[in-house]
Amino acid sequence: MKTSSYSGFFKLPVEDRLNEVAEFAGLTEEEKATIFSADSLDMEKADHMVENVIGRFSLPMGVGLNFIINGKEVVIPMVSEEPSVIAACTNAAKMARAGGGFTASSSGNIMIGQIQMLNIAAPFAAKSKVLEKKDEIIRICNEKDPVLVGFGGGVKDVEVRVIDSIVGPMVIVHLLVDTLDAMGANAVNTMAEAVSPYIEEITGGTAELRILSNLAVHRVVRARATWTKEALGGEEVVDKIISAYAFAAADPYRAATSNKGIMNGITPVVLATGNDTRAIESGAHSYAARNGKYTSLTTWEKDENGDLVGVIELPMAVGLVGGATKIHPAAKVAVKILGVETAAELGQIIACAGLANNLAAMKALATEGIQRGHMSLHARNLANTVGAKGEVLEKIVKQMVADKKVRLEYAQELFEKFQAEEK
Ligand code: MEV
Repeated sequence: MKTSSYSGFFKLPVEDRLNEVAEFAGLTEEEKATIFSADSLDMEKADHMVENVIGRFSLPMGVGLNFIINGKEVVIPMVSEEPSVIAACTNAAKMARAGGGFTASSSGNIMIGQIQMLNIAAPFAAKSKVLEKKDEIIRICNEKDPVLVGFGGGVKDVEVRVIDSIVGPMVIVHLLVDTLDAMGANAVNTMAEAVSPYIEEITGGTAELRILSNLAVHRVVRARATWTKEALGGEEVVDKIISAYAFAAADPYRAATSNKGIMNGITPVVLATGNDTRAIESGAHSYAARNGKYTSLTTWEKDENGDLVGVIELPMAVGLVGGATKIHPAAKVAVKILGVETAAELGQIIACAGLANNLAAMKALATEGIQRGHMSLHARNLANTVGAKGEVLEKIVKQMVADKKVRLEYAQELFEKFQAEEK
């Protein structure tokens, strides 16, 4: 395939789908085999990745299609156990093409390292003392990572907060570290540990926790897209989606589920590229509550033409260097399929997938409900399980959905019936 848009992709056999993606992304035979094989992560590598290894665990990798992001066609590898998610993402991106696709940007790659200072009698004076020594603090930190600094990264600034707590006031020092294309946890934590004796010296206090914050407010990605009213099925659908969003914006119970739908698009790409899913999830949810009330990570509005405009904004601490991204062979191929050169670009694509999944879920919920779409995918799974293929499979799916009987024994019965009819 030449673009990320391919009609009927889901109907192809798996090998053909892989060949299409390989053509799009210029994958080698070896890279294709890596994606295709369930055990591309060999046992030795697996054994070095985590502790107490007793085996490996496979999940399906699919692709989100139809994305145009900042004018570029993008195919998005997604690893998930949940049916419907990849189809929903693909469908939402298809509907976004009429509006020109997605536009995304990033605020930079600055991570926060926190140092918790205790036993300080005059916290505001200590804050002032730390800020007076900012240059020396930056120097001590940057000495720890000459490679990062050599590429233009390292500590760029220092902030100090005084917070109240049940054990009294605390002085919290923030190191603002540009981690470039790395997720950055190791660099940030090393620097925080290295500089804390100096901060103890300046303040007379005791440094306790020294750790990165996942509330990465200086490493935020934004993405937006316009769905034309025609693509969505009319202005009435636009209005229904906006009131669905208004519910999430107003109510944390709904916001939690709406944001879960956003994470349906985000986590599978984070996982496919070997990044830390928990870091992204904690960053997303804490960002959604940053103003004191948990709310939606997206906003939805109607523009002057009556079209729907969605915007997503969230922290995105993903990397392209280090960690499983560089170790897991399938993650390396996933990065190649994405065609990204920087962590910021990767983060932008991930945000677009999140926005797409949010749109798909809201459209389904605000119109026909989500069960119909789920049912046909479930029916497809069952037809597949009983061994049906091609036209027979399609007929079984259609019949089960029409009869609202999506069950394994009915799939088997229909399979036998349609097979007998074919003969
Ligand atoms: C299910 O995985 C995700 C949804 O619940 C998201 C939403 O409610 O917006 C459908």
